[in-house]
Amino acid sequence: MEVLKTKAALKAYLKPLKAAGKKIALVPTMGALHNGHISLIKLAQENADVIICSIFVNPTQFTDPKDLEKYPRPIEHDLAMLDEAGCNAVFMPNVEEMYPAGGDENWHIDLGNAEFLLEGAFRKGHYQGVTQIVKKLFDAVEPDVAMFGQKDYQQVLMIKNMLEHFKLPINIITCPIIREDDGLAMSSRNIHLSETDRKNALVLSKSLQFVVDNFNSFPLSELEQQAKSFYDGIEGVELDYFTIANGDTLQAAASKTEHKLVALVAAKVGATRLIDNMIIK
Ligand code: PAJ
Repeated sequence: MEVLKTKAALKAYLKPLKAAGKKIALVPTMGALHNGHISLIKLAQENADVIICSIFVNPTQFTDPKDLEKYPRPIEHDLAMLDEAGCNAVFMPNVEEMYPAGGDENWHIDLGNAEFLLEGAFRKGHYQGVTQIVKKLFDAVEPDVAMFGQKDYQQVLMIKNMLEHFKLPINIITCPIIREDDGLAMSSRNIHLSETDRKNALVLSKSLQFVVDNFNSFPLSELEQQAKSFYDGIEGVELDYFTIANGDTLQAAASKTEHKLVALVAAKVGATRLIDNMIIK
C-alpha cells in the first residue's frame, strides 16, 4: 500500500492509473478507523479498480477546539487496517498541505436550508468546513466515485449539494451503518465512552429501532414523544435532538405519507457526543 503525503505525490501516483483507464474511488476519513470505515473500503472495491483512502483530521469542521484536540490519531493501527483491507493508497497530508493559506481561507457556499438544521444547528459552520475539505480532496484525487456512510446522514446530503453547486462528475455512494453486535453505531468517538457510558449509549439505537418497529402503530407525534421518553432519567445522557424528518429536506416530517422518512438523533453520553439514524422508508 502506498502512503502519500503530498498532492504532488498523489498526482504522480494516479497519473499512469488514470491513463490506463482505471476507475478511481476515494474514501475520505479522519482516521481512528473501525469496521464502519473498512466497510466503505470494501464497497469501494466493488465499484472501482483503485481505492484511495484519505486520512485527515480537518480543523475547519470542528466547532469545539477540545474535540479537535482529543480526536484520536492511532495512525499505525489505521495503516495496518487499510493494508489488510486491500486499500491501494493512503493520502495523509498535513494541515499546511491542505490549507496553505493557514486555514482561514474564505469558503462559503450555499448548501441549502438543511445546512442549518440538526447537526448544523448544534455545530455552526460544520458543513462549510466539511464541504471545503471534501472539495479539496475531490480536486486532489478527481475520483470517479466517492464513498460516504449513512452514519452521517446530513453530511451525505450536504456533499451532494456541494457536488451539484460545482457540477462535479463524481458518483457518490452511500454505505449502510455498521453497528456493534448490541446495536451501537461504530464511531471513532466510541473509545471515549466509559463502561457506564457504553451501556447508556445503547439508548440511541434502541430509540431509533423503536420508531422503525412501531411506525405503523402510532401517530408521528406520539412516536417521537415515546422515542424521546427513552432518554428520561438516564443519568449522564443529554438528548440534543430526536426527530422524524423528511429524508431529503431534513424538515420535521409533516405526515407519515411523505416519500422518504428518516429518524435522526444526537445525544451527549458522558462527555462524548454521539449521532445515529435509521431510515424508516
Ligand atoms: P469520519 O468520521 O472519519 O468518517 C469517514 C466516513 O466513514 C464517513 O463517510 C462516515 O459516514 C463513515 N462512517 C463512520 N462511521 C460509520 C459506520 N458506523 N458505518 C458506516 N460508515 C461509517 O465523516 C468524516 O470522517 C469527515 O467529515 C470527512 C467526510 C472525512 C471530511 O473531513
